[in-house]
Amino acid sequence: MKPAQGKLGVLCVGMGAVTTTFIAGTLMYRKGLGLPGGAVTQMAKIRVGRGEKKQYKKIGDIVPLVSMDDMVFGGWDIFTDNAYESALNAGVLLAKDVDPVRDELKAIRPMAAAFDPKFVSRLHGEHIKQGTRLELVEQLREDIRRFKAENNCERVVVLWAASTEIYVPYFEPVHGTLAALEAAMAADDQEHVAPSMCYAYAAMAEDAPFVMGAPNTCIDIPAMWEMAEAKQLPIAGKDFKTGQTLMKTVLAPMLRTRCLGLAGWFSTNILGNRDGEVLDAPENFHTKEVSKLGVIDTILKADEQPELYGDIYHKVRINYYPPRGDAKEGWDNLDIYGWMGKDYGMQIKVDFLCRDSILAAPIVLDLVVCADLAHRAGLKGIQRWMSFFLKSPMHDFTQGEEPIHDLFQQYILFKNQIRLLGGYEADEELD
Ligand SMILES: NC(=O)c1ccc[n+]([C@@H]2O[C@H](COP(=O)([O-])OP(=O)(O)OC[C@H]3O[C@@H](n4cnc5c(N)ncnc54)[C@H](O)[C@@H]3O)[C@@H](O)[C@H]2O)c1
Repeated sequence: MKPAQGKLGVLCVGMGAVTTTFIAGTLMYRKGLGLPGGAVTQMAKIRVGRGEKKQYKKIGDIVPLVSMDDMVFGGWDIFTDNAYESALNAGVLLAKDVDPVRDELKAIRPMAAAFDPKFVSRLHGEHIKQGTRLELVEQLREDIRRFKAENNCERVVVLWAASTEIYVPYFEPVHGTLAALEAAMAADDQEHVAPSMCYAYAAMAEDAPFVMGAPNTCIDIPAMWEMAEAKQLPIAGKDFKTGQTLMKTVLAPMLRTRCLGLAGWFSTNILGNRDGEVLDAPENFHTKEVSKLGVIDTILKADEQPELYGDIYHKVRINYYPPRGDAKEGWDNLDIYGWMGKDYGMQIKVDFLCRDSILAAPIVLDLVVCADLAHRAGLKGIQRWMSFFLKSPMHDFTQGEEPIHDLFQQYILFKNQIRLLGGYEADEELD
Protein backbone atom coordinates (compact mmCIF):
# COMPACT_ATOMS: atom_id res chain seq x y z
CA MET A 1 0.00 0.00 0.00
CA LYS A 2 1.39 3.36 -1.00
CA PRO A 3 1.24 5.98 1.75
CA ALA A 4 -1.31 8.81 1.64
CA GLN A 5 1.37 11.44 1.23
CA GLY A 6 1.12 14.68 -0.70
CA LYS A 7 -1.88 16.52 -2.11
CA LEU A 8 -4.89 14.77 -3.56
CA GLY A 9 -6.60 16.66 -6.39
CA VAL A 10 -10.37 16.21 -6.15
CA LEU A 11 -11.85 17.11 -9.50
CA CYS A 12 -15.64 17.26 -9.50
CA VAL A 13 -17.62 17.20 -12.72
CA GLY A 14 -20.46 19.64 -12.02
CA MET A 15 -20.14 22.37 -9.42
CA GLY A 16 -23.74 22.45 -8.30
CA ALA A 17 -25.51 21.82 -5.02
CA VAL A 18 -23.84 18.54 -4.06
CA THR A 19 -20.29 19.52 -5.03
CA THR A 20 -20.34 22.92 -3.34
CA THR A 21 -21.93 21.50 -0.19
CA PHE A 22 -19.19 18.88 -0.09
CA ILE A 23 -16.36 21.36 -0.70
CA ALA A 24 -17.65 24.05 1.65
CA GLY A 25 -18.25 21.48 4.40
CA THR A 26 -14.75 20.06 3.99
CA LEU A 27 -13.17 23.51 4.11
CA MET A 28 -15.24 24.39 7.18
CA TYR A 29 -14.16 21.17 8.89
CA ARG A 30 -10.52 22.10 8.25
CA LYS A 31 -11.12 25.31 10.16
CA GLY A 32 -12.61 23.34 13.02
CA LEU A 33 -16.07 24.66 12.19
CA GLY A 34 -17.95 21.68 10.79
CA LEU A 35 -18.99 18.15 11.64
CA PRO A 36 -18.43 15.46 8.96
CA GLY A 37 -21.65 13.75 10.05
CA GLY A 38 -22.70 10.94 7.73
CA ALA A 39 -19.14 10.42 6.48
CA VAL A 40 -18.35 6.83 7.42
CA THR A 41 -14.64 7.13 6.61
CA GLN A 42 -14.34 9.95 9.13
CA MET A 43 -16.73 8.89 11.89
CA ALA A 44 -17.23 5.09 11.92
CA LYS A 45 -15.41 2.67 14.13
CA ILE A 46 -14.94 -0.83 12.81
CA ARG A 47 -14.16 -3.96 14.76
CA VAL A 48 -10.89 -5.64 13.87
CA GLY A 49 -9.70 -8.92 15.38
CA ARG A 50 -11.85 -11.42 17.21
CA GLY A 51 -12.52 -12.62 20.77
CA GLU A 52 -10.09 -11.21 23.27
CA LYS A 53 -8.14 -9.49 20.52
CA LYS A 54 -11.04 -7.48 19.21
CA GLN A 55 -10.71 -3.72 19.03
CA TYR A 56 -12.88 -0.97 17.59
CA LYS A 57 -10.88 1.46 15.50
CA LYS A 58 -11.55 4.42 13.29
CA ILE A 59 -11.03 3.53 9.65
CA GLY A 60 -8.13 5.96 9.36
CA ASP A 61 -6.39 4.05 12.16
CA ILE A 62 -6.74 0.78 10.25
CA VAL A 63 -5.68 1.95 6.79
CA PRO A 64 -3.88 5.12 5.68
CA LEU A 65 -6.54 7.55 4.44
CA VAL A 66 -5.99 10.86 2.72
CA SER A 67 -6.47 13.67 5.20
CA MET A 68 -9.18 16.22 4.47
CA ASP A 69 -6.41 18.80 4.91
CA ASP A 70 -4.56 17.40 1.89
CA MET A 71 -7.39 17.78 -0.62
CA VAL A 72 -7.26 20.39 -3.38
CA PHE A 73 -10.55 21.04 -5.18
CA GLY A 74 -11.35 21.81 -8.77
CA GLY A 75 -13.88 20.85 -11.40
CA TRP A 76 -15.91 21.63 -14.46
CA ASP A 77 -19.30 23.21 -15.08
CA ILE A 78 -21.31 24.68 -17.94
CA PHE A 79 -21.72 27.87 -15.87
CA THR A 80 -18.84 30.15 -14.95
CA ASP A 81 -19.95 30.75 -11.33
CA ASN A 82 -17.15 30.09 -8.87
CA ALA A 83 -17.79 27.67 -6.00
CA TYR A 84 -18.85 30.49 -3.67
CA GLU A 85 -21.44 31.88 -6.10
CA SER A 86 -22.63 28.40 -6.90
CA ALA A 87 -23.00 27.52 -3.20
CA LEU A 88 -25.09 30.66 -2.69
CA ASN A 89 -27.25 29.81 -5.74
CA ALA A 90 -27.76 26.27 -4.49
CA GLY A 91 -28.95 27.70 -1.18
CA VAL A 92 -28.17 24.55 0.77
CA LEU A 93 -25.85 25.92 3.45
CA LEU A 94 -26.56 28.96 5.57
CA ALA A 95 -24.38 32.04 5.06
CA LYS A 96 -22.70 31.39 8.43
CA ASP A 97 -21.43 28.07 7.05
CA VAL A 98 -20.14 29.48 3.78
CA ASP A 99 -18.75 32.91 4.65
CA PRO A 100 -15.82 31.71 6.78
CA VAL A 101 -14.46 29.88 3.70
CA ARG A 102 -15.59 32.43 1.11
CA ASP A 103 -12.11 33.22 -0.21
CA GLU A 104 -11.18 29.58 -0.72
CA LEU A 105 -14.50 28.92 -2.46
CA LYS A 106 -14.13 31.97 -4.69
CA ALA A 107 -10.76 30.69 -5.86
CA ILE A 108 -12.37 27.49 -7.19
CA ARG A 109 -13.43 28.37 -10.72
CA PRO A 110 -14.87 25.69 -12.94
CA MET A 111 -13.12 24.68 -16.11
CA ALA A 112 -15.21 24.64 -19.29
CA ALA A 113 -17.43 21.58 -19.53
CA ALA A 114 -17.71 18.76 -22.03
CA PHE A 115 -21.43 19.08 -22.56
CA ASP A 116 -24.01 18.13 -25.13
CA PRO A 117 -27.51 19.58 -24.74
CA LYS A 118 -28.98 16.44 -26.30
CA PHE A 119 -28.07 14.69 -23.05
CA VAL A 120 -29.45 17.34 -20.64
CA SER A 121 -32.12 19.37 -22.38
CA ARG A 122 -33.16 21.58 -19.45
CA LEU A 123 -29.81 23.33 -18.98
CA HIS A 124 -28.43 26.15 -21.09
CA GLY A 125 -24.88 27.13 -20.18
CA GLU A 126 -22.17 28.97 -22.03
CA HIS A 127 -18.97 27.60 -20.47
CA ILE A 128 -18.63 24.68 -22.85
CA LYS A 129 -15.80 23.09 -24.81
CA GLN A 130 -16.14 22.63 -28.56
CA GLY A 131 -15.01 19.61 -30.54
CA THR A 132 -15.62 16.01 -31.43
CA ARG A 133 -15.88 13.43 -28.67
CA LEU A 134 -12.20 12.62 -29.09
CA GLU A 135 -11.23 16.29 -29.01
CA LEU A 136 -13.24 16.72 -25.82
CA VAL A 137 -11.30 13.86 -24.27
CA GLU A 138 -8.01 15.49 -25.24
CA GLN A 139 -9.07 18.83 -23.74
CA LEU A 140 -10.20 17.18 -20.52
CA ARG A 141 -6.91 15.30 -20.25
CA GLU A 142 -5.09 18.58 -20.66
CA ASP A 143 -7.26 20.12 -17.88
CA ILE A 144 -6.38 17.29 -15.52
CA ARG A 145 -2.65 17.52 -16.26
CA ARG A 146 -2.65 21.29 -15.81
CA PHE A 147 -4.61 21.12 -12.55
CA LYS A 148 -2.28 18.47 -11.20
CA ALA A 149 0.84 20.46 -12.07
CA GLU A 150 -0.47 23.85 -10.91
CA ASN A 151 -1.61 22.47 -7.59
CA ASN A 152 1.32 20.19 -7.02
CA CYS A 153 -0.89 17.13 -6.65
CA GLU A 154 0.53 13.72 -6.02
CA ARG A 155 -2.69 12.01 -7.14
CA VAL A 156 -6.11 12.91 -8.55
CA VAL A 157 -9.61 11.45 -8.20
CA VAL A 158 -12.35 12.49 -10.64
CA LEU A 159 -15.96 12.29 -9.45
CA TRP A 160 -19.12 13.00 -11.42
CA ALA A 161 -21.63 15.09 -9.46
CA ALA A 162 -23.08 16.74 -12.56
CA SER A 163 -26.60 16.48 -13.90
CA THR A 164 -28.14 13.15 -14.80
CA GLU A 165 -27.86 12.53 -18.53
CA ILE A 166 -30.53 10.88 -20.64
CA TYR A 167 -30.57 7.12 -20.50
CA VAL A 168 -27.88 5.60 -22.73
CA PRO A 169 -28.69 1.89 -23.02
CA TYR A 170 -25.86 -0.61 -23.31
CA PHE A 171 -24.96 -0.92 -27.00
CA GLU A 172 -22.53 -3.76 -27.44
CA PRO A 173 -20.94 -2.66 -30.78
CA VAL A 174 -19.73 0.55 -29.08
CA HIS A 175 -19.66 -0.23 -25.36
CA GLY A 176 -18.53 -3.85 -25.52
CA THR A 177 -14.77 -3.32 -25.77
CA LEU A 178 -12.30 -0.51 -25.20
CA ALA A 179 -11.20 -0.61 -28.85
CA ALA A 180 -14.82 -0.20 -29.98
CA LEU A 181 -15.36 2.73 -27.62
CA GLU A 182 -12.18 4.43 -28.80
CA ALA A 183 -13.22 3.93 -32.42
CA ALA A 184 -16.62 5.48 -31.65
CA MET A 185 -14.92 8.48 -30.00
CA ALA A 186 -12.66 8.89 -33.02
CA ALA A 187 -15.73 8.71 -35.29
CA ASP A 188 -17.49 11.29 -33.10
CA ASP A 189 -20.43 8.96 -32.38
CA GLN A 190 -22.59 11.42 -30.44
CA GLU A 191 -25.39 8.99 -29.87
CA HIS A 192 -23.53 6.28 -27.98
CA VAL A 193 -20.69 8.29 -26.43
CA ALA A 194 -22.16 10.46 -23.70
CA PRO A 195 -20.16 13.48 -22.49
CA SER A 196 -19.78 11.71 -19.14
CA MET A 197 -17.88 8.95 -20.94
CA CYS A 198 -15.38 11.55 -22.18
CA TYR A 199 -14.67 12.56 -18.57
CA ALA A 200 -14.31 8.97 -17.40
CA TYR A 201 -12.01 8.08 -20.28
CA ALA A 202 -9.91 11.23 -19.78
CA ALA A 203 -9.61 10.58 -16.03
CA MET A 204 -8.41 7.03 -16.51
CA ALA A 205 -6.07 8.05 -19.33
CA GLU A 206 -4.50 10.41 -16.78
CA ASP A 207 -4.25 7.64 -14.14
CA ALA A 208 -7.08 8.96 -11.99
CA PRO A 209 -9.78 6.72 -10.48
CA PHE A 210 -13.27 7.72 -11.63
CA VAL A 211 -16.48 7.70 -9.57
CA MET A 212 -19.95 8.10 -11.09
CA GLY A 213 -22.34 9.76 -8.63
CA ALA A 214 -25.33 10.08 -10.99
CA PRO A 215 -27.21 7.14 -12.51
CA ASN A 216 -25.57 7.64 -15.94
CA THR A 217 -24.52 4.34 -17.51
CA CYS A 218 -21.12 5.94 -18.36
CA ILE A 219 -18.61 3.58 -16.71
CA ASP A 220 -21.13 0.77 -16.32
CA ILE A 221 -20.02 -0.80 -19.60
CA PRO A 222 -17.39 -3.47 -20.37
CA ALA A 223 -15.26 -1.00 -22.37
CA MET A 224 -14.68 1.10 -19.25
CA TRP A 225 -14.08 -1.96 -17.06
CA GLU A 226 -11.45 -3.07 -19.57
CA MET A 227 -9.78 0.32 -19.40
CA ALA A 228 -9.80 0.30 -15.58
CA GLU A 229 -8.19 -3.15 -15.55
CA ALA A 230 -5.61 -2.19 -18.15
CA LYS A 231 -4.71 1.06 -16.38
CA GLN A 232 -4.81 -0.62 -12.92
CA LEU A 233 -7.38 1.85 -11.69
CA PRO A 234 -10.38 1.51 -9.38
CA ILE A 235 -13.77 2.73 -10.60
CA ALA A 236 -17.04 2.99 -8.67
CA GLY A 237 -20.64 3.87 -9.40
CA LYS A 238 -23.35 4.57 -9.77
CA ASP A 239 -25.76 7.08 -8.17
CA PHE A 240 -25.22 8.27 -4.59
CA LYS A 241 -27.40 6.30 -2.18
CA THR A 242 -28.85 9.14 -0.16
CA GLY A 243 -32.53 9.35 0.87
CA GLN A 244 -35.36 7.22 -0.37
CA THR A 245 -33.19 4.41 -1.71
CA LEU A 246 -31.22 4.29 1.51
CA MET A 247 -34.52 3.68 3.31
CA LYS A 248 -35.52 1.06 0.72
CA THR A 249 -32.36 -0.94 1.17
CA VAL A 250 -33.00 -1.02 4.91
CA LEU A 251 -36.72 -1.83 4.80
CA ALA A 252 -36.59 -4.48 2.06
CA PRO A 253 -34.12 -6.69 4.00
CA MET A 254 -36.46 -6.40 7.00
CA LEU A 255 -39.37 -7.75 4.93
CA ARG A 256 -37.26 -10.55 3.51
CA THR A 257 -35.74 -11.70 6.78
CA ARG A 258 -39.19 -11.79 8.44
CA CYS A 259 -40.81 -13.42 5.37
CA LEU A 260 -43.37 -10.65 5.00
CA GLY A 261 -44.90 -10.35 1.54
CA LEU A 262 -44.91 -7.21 -0.57
CA ALA A 263 -47.79 -6.35 -2.90
CA GLY A 264 -46.69 -2.88 -3.89
CA TRP A 265 -44.22 -0.12 -3.18
CA PHE A 266 -45.08 3.37 -4.30
CA SER A 267 -42.38 6.03 -3.96
CA THR A 268 -42.70 9.66 -4.84
CA ASN A 269 -40.56 12.73 -4.24
CA ILE A 270 -40.95 16.45 -4.44
CA LEU A 271 -37.88 18.60 -4.80
CA GLY A 272 -37.14 22.00 -6.22
CA ASN A 273 -33.43 22.21 -6.88
CA ARG A 274 -31.72 22.20 -10.29
CA ASP A 275 -31.40 18.42 -10.11
CA GLY A 276 -35.19 18.27 -9.76
CA GLU A 277 -35.57 20.51 -12.78
CA VAL A 278 -33.29 18.31 -14.91
CA LEU A 279 -35.10 15.17 -13.73
CA ASP A 280 -38.42 16.73 -14.69
CA ALA A 281 -37.52 15.91 -18.30
CA PRO A 282 -38.86 12.36 -18.92
CA GLU A 283 -35.75 11.21 -20.80
CA ASN A 284 -33.49 12.22 -17.88
CA PHE A 285 -35.91 10.86 -15.28
CA HIS A 286 -35.80 7.50 -17.05
CA THR A 287 -32.09 7.14 -16.16
CA LYS A 288 -32.96 7.75 -12.50
CA GLU A 289 -36.00 5.49 -12.69
CA VAL A 290 -33.91 2.54 -13.89
CA SER A 291 -31.46 3.18 -11.07
CA LYS A 292 -34.15 3.42 -8.40
CA LEU A 293 -36.32 0.54 -9.62
CA GLY A 294 -33.56 -2.07 -9.61
CA VAL A 295 -33.11 -1.85 -5.88
CA ILE A 296 -35.68 -4.19 -4.35
CA ASP A 297 -35.64 -7.04 -6.89
CA THR A 298 -32.26 -8.42 -5.91
CA ILE A 299 -33.06 -8.08 -2.20
CA LEU A 300 -36.47 -9.74 -2.30
CA LYS A 301 -35.71 -12.40 -4.95
CA ALA A 302 -39.08 -13.23 -6.51
CA ASP A 303 -37.81 -16.55 -7.91
CA GLU A 304 -36.93 -17.84 -4.44
CA GLN A 305 -40.13 -16.61 -2.74
CA PRO A 306 -42.81 -16.26 -5.42
CA GLU A 307 -45.73 -16.31 -2.92
CA LEU A 308 -44.23 -13.31 -1.16
CA TYR A 309 -42.49 -11.34 -3.90
CA GLY A 310 -43.72 -12.73 -7.21
CA ASP A 311 -46.18 -9.94 -7.97
CA ILE A 312 -44.86 -6.58 -6.72
CA TYR A 313 -46.12 -3.32 -8.17
CA HIS A 314 -43.16 -0.94 -7.84
CA LYS A 315 -43.48 2.65 -8.92
CA VAL A 316 -41.11 5.60 -8.50
CA ARG A 317 -41.86 9.23 -9.26
CA ILE A 318 -39.92 12.49 -8.96
CA ASN A 319 -41.84 15.75 -9.12
CA TYR A 320 -40.18 19.12 -9.61
CA TYR A 321 -41.65 21.49 -7.02
CA PRO A 322 -39.62 24.73 -6.78
CA PRO A 323 -40.75 25.97 -3.33
CA ARG A 324 -38.90 23.08 -1.64
CA GLY A 325 -35.48 23.84 -3.10
CA ASP A 326 -32.94 21.26 -1.93
CA ALA A 327 -35.20 20.13 0.94
CA LYS A 328 -36.65 17.06 -0.71
CA GLU A 329 -39.63 15.20 0.67
CA GLY A 330 -39.71 11.52 -0.17
CA TRP A 331 -42.88 9.53 0.49
CA ASP A 332 -43.09 5.78 0.44
CA ASN A 333 -46.14 3.58 0.76
CA LEU A 334 -45.59 -0.16 1.15
CA ASP A 335 -48.49 -2.61 0.92
CA ILE A 336 -47.37 -5.68 2.80
CA TYR A 337 -48.93 -8.94 3.96
CA GLY A 338 -48.09 -11.96 6.05
CA TRP A 339 -50.12 -14.51 7.96
CA MET A 340 -53.07 -15.73 5.84
CA GLY A 341 -52.02 -13.67 2.87
CA LYS A 342 -53.19 -10.55 1.09
CA ASP A 343 -56.69 -10.40 2.68
CA TYR A 344 -54.97 -9.11 5.81
CA GLY A 345 -52.82 -6.50 4.14
CA MET A 346 -50.97 -3.82 6.11
CA GLN A 347 -49.30 -0.59 5.14
CA ILE A 348 -46.07 1.11 6.05
CA LYS A 349 -45.76 4.83 5.29
CA VAL A 350 -42.47 6.67 5.29
CA ASP A 351 -42.22 10.42 4.95
CA PHE A 352 -38.57 11.41 4.79
CA LEU A 353 -38.12 15.16 5.07
CA CYS A 354 -34.54 15.19 3.96
CA ARG A 355 -31.99 17.55 2.50
CA ASP A 356 -30.61 16.19 -0.70
CA SER A 357 -27.15 17.69 -0.69
CA ILE A 358 -26.65 17.38 3.07
CA LEU A 359 -27.10 13.63 2.60
CA ALA A 360 -24.99 13.47 -0.56
CA ALA A 361 -21.96 15.51 0.58
CA PRO A 362 -20.59 12.96 3.08
CA ILE A 363 -21.05 10.23 0.48
CA VAL A 364 -18.95 12.25 -1.96
CA LEU A 365 -16.25 12.52 0.68
CA ASP A 366 -16.39 8.79 1.44
CA LEU A 367 -16.25 7.87 -2.24
CA VAL A 368 -13.28 10.15 -2.88
CA VAL A 369 -11.42 8.85 0.16
CA CYS A 370 -12.15 5.20 -0.69
CA ALA A 371 -11.29 5.60 -4.38
CA ASP A 372 -7.94 7.07 -3.41
CA LEU A 373 -7.37 4.31 -0.86
CA ALA A 374 -8.20 1.65 -3.46
CA HIS A 375 -5.84 3.27 -5.94
CA ARG A 376 -2.93 3.34 -3.52
CA ALA A 377 -3.69 -0.25 -2.53
CA GLY A 378 -3.48 -1.38 -6.15
CA LEU A 379 -7.15 -2.40 -6.45
CA LYS A 380 -8.48 -2.16 -9.98
CA GLY A 381 -11.77 -2.40 -11.86
CA ILE A 382 -15.24 -2.23 -10.29
CA GLN A 383 -15.00 -1.72 -6.54
CA ARG A 384 -17.97 -3.69 -5.24
CA TRP A 385 -17.06 -2.94 -1.62
CA MET A 386 -17.97 0.68 -2.34
CA SER A 387 -21.55 -0.40 -3.21
CA PHE A 388 -22.41 0.70 0.35
CA PHE A 389 -22.55 4.30 -0.90
CA LEU A 390 -24.33 3.67 -4.18
CA LYS A 391 -27.92 3.29 -5.29
CA SER A 392 -27.25 1.22 -8.39
CA PRO A 393 -23.95 -0.55 -7.73
CA MET A 394 -21.98 -1.75 -10.70
CA HIS A 395 -21.43 -5.45 -11.29
CA ASP A 396 -20.33 -7.50 -14.28
CA PHE A 397 -23.71 -8.09 -15.93
CA THR A 398 -22.05 -9.91 -18.85
CA GLN A 399 -21.13 -12.69 -16.39
CA GLY A 400 -24.57 -12.79 -14.73
CA GLU A 401 -23.21 -11.14 -11.58
CA GLU A 402 -25.91 -9.57 -9.39
CA PRO A 403 -25.64 -6.18 -7.69
CA ILE A 404 -25.70 -6.12 -3.90
CA HIS A 405 -28.30 -3.66 -2.64
CA ASP A 406 -28.95 -4.75 0.95
CA LEU A 407 -27.31 -2.04 3.08
CA PHE A 408 -26.23 -4.54 5.73
CA GLN A 409 -24.61 -6.90 3.24
CA GLN A 410 -22.93 -3.90 1.65
CA TYR A 411 -21.60 -2.87 5.05
CA ILE A 412 -20.10 -6.33 5.60
CA LEU A 413 -18.35 -6.09 2.22
CA PHE A 414 -17.11 -2.61 3.07
CA LYS A 415 -15.80 -3.52 6.52
CA ASN A 416 -14.11 -6.66 5.28
CA GLN A 417 -12.29 -4.77 2.54
CA ILE A 418 -11.03 -2.27 5.12
CA ARG A 419 -9.98 -5.14 7.42
CA LEU A 420 -8.11 -6.89 4.60
CA LEU A 421 -6.35 -3.70 3.53
CA GLY A 422 -5.38 -3.11 7.16
CA GLY A 423 -3.78 -6.56 7.39
CA TYR A 424 -6.61 -8.15 9.39
CA GLU A 425 -8.80 -11.13 8.61
CA ALA A 426 -12.11 -10.68 6.81
CA ASP A 427 -14.95 -12.14 8.87
CA GLU A 428 -18.67 -12.06 9.56
CA GLU A 429 -18.43 -12.13 13.31
CA LEU A 430 -21.12 -10.25 15.21
CA ASP A 431 -19.99 -6.76 16.11
N1 LIG B 1 -28.32 15.00 -3.85
C1 LIG B 1 -28.65 13.76 -3.85
O1 LIG B 1 -29.24 13.29 -2.91
C2 LIG B 1 -28.27 12.90 -5.02
C3 LIG B 1 -28.41 11.53 -4.90
C4 LIG B 1 -28.04 10.73 -5.95
C5 LIG B 1 -27.54 11.30 -7.11
N2 LIG B 1 -27.45 12.63 -7.22
C6 LIG B 1 -26.97 13.16 -8.47
O2 LIG B 1 -25.89 14.02 -8.29
C7 LIG B 1 -25.87 14.95 -9.36
C8 LIG B 1 -25.65 16.35 -8.82
O3 LIG B 1 -26.76 16.78 -8.07
P1 LIG B 1 -26.92 18.31 -7.67
O4 LIG B 1 -28.09 18.39 -6.76
O5 LIG B 1 -25.61 18.85 -7.25
O6 LIG B 1 -27.34 18.93 -9.08
P2 LIG B 1 -27.08 20.44 -9.58
O7 LIG B 1 -28.01 20.61 -10.73
O8 LIG B 1 -27.15 21.41 -8.46
O9 LIG B 1 -25.58 20.41 -10.08
C9 LIG B 1 -25.17 19.75 -11.23
C10 LIG B 1 -24.22 20.67 -11.98
O10 LIG B 1 -23.69 19.94 -13.08
C11 LIG B 1 -23.52 20.85 -14.14
N3 LIG B 1 -23.38 20.06 -15.36
C12 LIG B 1 -24.33 19.44 -16.08
N4 LIG B 1 -23.78 18.75 -17.10
C13 LIG B 1 -22.44 18.95 -17.02
C14 LIG B 1 -21.35 18.49 -17.77
N5 LIG B 1 -21.51 17.69 -18.83
N6 LIG B 1 -20.11 18.89 -17.40
C15 LIG B 1 -19.92 19.69 -16.32
N7 LIG B 1 -20.93 20.15 -15.57
C16 LIG B 1 -22.18 19.78 -15.91
C17 LIG B 1 -24.73 21.74 -14.07
O11 LIG B 1 -24.51 22.95 -14.72
C18 LIG B 1 -24.89 21.90 -12.55
O12 LIG B 1 -24.23 23.05 -12.06
C19 LIG B 1 -27.17 14.76 -10.14
O13 LIG B 1 -26.95 13.96 -11.27
C20 LIG B 1 -28.01 14.02 -9.16
O14 LIG B 1 -29.00 13.21 -9.80
C21 LIG B 1 -27.78 13.46 -6.19
